[in-house]
Amino acid sequence: MLVDTFGRTATDLRVSLTDRCNLRCSYCMPPEGLEWLPKPELLTDDEVARLIGIAVRDLGVTEVRLTGGEPLLRRGVVGIVARAAALEPRPQISITTNGIGLERLAAPLADAGLDRVNVSLDTLDRATFQAMAHRDRLADVLAGLAAAARAGLAPVKINTVLLRGVNDHEAVPLLEYCLAHGYQLRFIEQMPLDAQHGWTRDGMITAGEILDRLGAAFTLVPEGAAERGSAPAETFTVDGGPATVGVIGSVTRPFCGACDRVRLTADGQVRNCLFATEESNLRDALRAGAGDAELADRWRAAVRAKRAGHGIDDPAFLQPARPMSAIGG
Ligand code: GTP
Ligand code: 5AD
Ligand code: SF4
Repeated sequence: MLVDTFGRTATDLRVSLTDRCNLRCSYCMPPEGLEWLPKPELLTDDEVARLIGIAVRDLGVTEVRLTGGEPLLRRGVVGIVARAAALEPRPQISITTNGIGLERLAAPLADAGLDRVNVSLDTLDRATFQAMAHRDRLADVLAGLAAAARAGLAPVKINTVLLRGVNDHEAVPLLEYCLAHGYQLRFIEQMPLDAQHGWTRDGMITAGEILDRLGAAFTLVPEGAAERGSAPAETFTVDGGPATVGVIGSVTRPFCGACDRVRLTADGQVRNCLFATEESNLRDALRAGAGDAELADRWRAAVRAKRAGHGIDDPAFLQPARPMSAIGG
C-alpha cells in the first residue's frame, strides 16, 4: 500500500502520458507553447505499462487515470489502456482529455477497456474558445464528446475553468448544455499551476461565486459526504435530480485531507501531490536495472513523504517548478 504519515492511502494513480498539447488554454500555458520534454526522457510504452503493473499488483492502486498534457497525443494510448485493463485485479481506467481526437479514438479506447472520460470544455462559443485556447477546435471537442457518449464511456464528465471577463457568463448555458446531453459538469477553481505564473487569488472565480450564479437559475441541493468520498468535486442535484453538477474548490475548499492520489509524470517521476516540490525518479532507477520490489520500495517512500496539504494559503507558498501540463492534470 501507498500510505503517508497522515494516514491517507493512495489508491488513485494519475499517469501523464505526454507534456505536449494541441491547445494553449490561457490558464495552463502560453500561446507559443512550452519547451517539451525530449523524447528519450519520456517513459516508453513498456516502461509505463510496467510501472502501472507494479502500482496495481504490489501497491494497492485500484484506479488508473491517464492525463497529459493531452494524453490522446500519445501514439500508444490505446495499447497502454489495453495493458492496464489486462491487469489482475483489474483497475478502473479513465482518461482526462481536451476532447480533440476522441471522435476517432473513443470507440477503440472503449474496446481496449477504458471505463470513463473527463473532457475539458470551457465555452460553447467558437470565438471564446479561440480566445481561450488559441486554436479553432471547438467543433472537434463537441464531436469528441458525442463519440464518447456513443462509445458508452459513461458517465462523461466535463471540466470547466471559468475566467473572469472571458467565459464566466457561460456557467448557466454550459450547465444547460450538459443537462441536455447527459454529461456531468464540474466547475474547477483556477489553480496556481500555469506555466506563465499568472494566477492571482482575485482573478480566480471561487466555488462560492459559481454556486451563487448557478443558484440563481437552478435549485441545487448538496449531495451527502457519502457520495463524495475522496472525490475533489462537491456535487449538487439540479432541479430535483437525478442530474448533478459539481464544483471542485481546490483553493477555497481544499480536499487534501481526503486525498487518495499519487502521480507519475511522463518522464517517470513520482509526485505525491500536484503541488509537491520534490519528485522521486523511478525512470532512472528502472533504466539502471532496478527490480519490481525496489521500484515499489521507492514508490512507497515517495508517498510517505507527502505533506498535509497544498499550502496555497501559506504566505511562503511557492508554485511548483513544473507547470500542470508537465505534472499531469
Ligand atoms: P473523477 O471525478 O473520478 O472523474 O476524477 P477527477 O475529478 O479527479 O479528475 P479530473 O482529471 O477530471 O480532474 C478534475 C480537476 O481536479 C482538475 O483540475 C484536476 O487538476 C483537479 N485535481 C485532480 N487531482 C487533484 C489533486 O490531487 N489535488 C487537487 N488540488 N486538484 C486535483
Ligand atoms: N487550474 C485549474 N484547472 C486547470 N486545468 C488545467 N490547468 C488548470 C489550472 N491552472 C484543468 C483542465 C482539465 C483538468 C485536467 O485541469 O481544464 O480539465
Ligand atoms: Fe492542453 Fe489541458 Fe493545458 Fe488546455 S489545460 S493547454 S487542454 S494541457
